[in-house]
Amino acid sequence: MDAYRRHVLVCTGSFCSPNRQGRLLYSQLAALLQREDLLFGPDRVKRSEAPCLGVCGGGPIIAVYPEGIWYGGVTPELLERIVVEHLRDGRIIDEAVFHRLGG
Ligand code: FES
Repeated sequence: MDAYRRHVLVCTGSFCSPNRQGRLLYSQLAALLQREDLLFGPDRVKRSEAPCLGVCGGGPIIAVYPEGIWYGGVTPELLERIVVEHLRDGRIIDEAVFHRLGG
C-alpha cells in the first residue's frame, strides 16, 4: 500500500455551515481527487469527514495535514483550487487560510 502524502478533513456538521454544504464538498472531493490522480501513488490523499472540528462558524471548513492548514468558507470553486493548487501542486492558498496549526 502506498503511504498517504496528505490527509484532508472535511467538516460535514451543521453548525459551521447550516445548509450542510460540507457534505456536498465531501462528495465532490472524491471526484476531484480521482480527476487529479491523487488517489494512488506518491501524492496520495486520504479523505475523511468529521462531524465537527470544534470551530462551528465560518464554514464549511477543510483542514489539510501534515501542513495543518485550515481553510474556511470553502465553496465548490475554492475546493477545486485546494485540490489543484495545494494537494496536487503543493502551493498553499494563503488568502483562503483562516488558521495554521502552531501559527
Ligand atoms: S460543525 Fe463544523 S466545525 Fe463544528
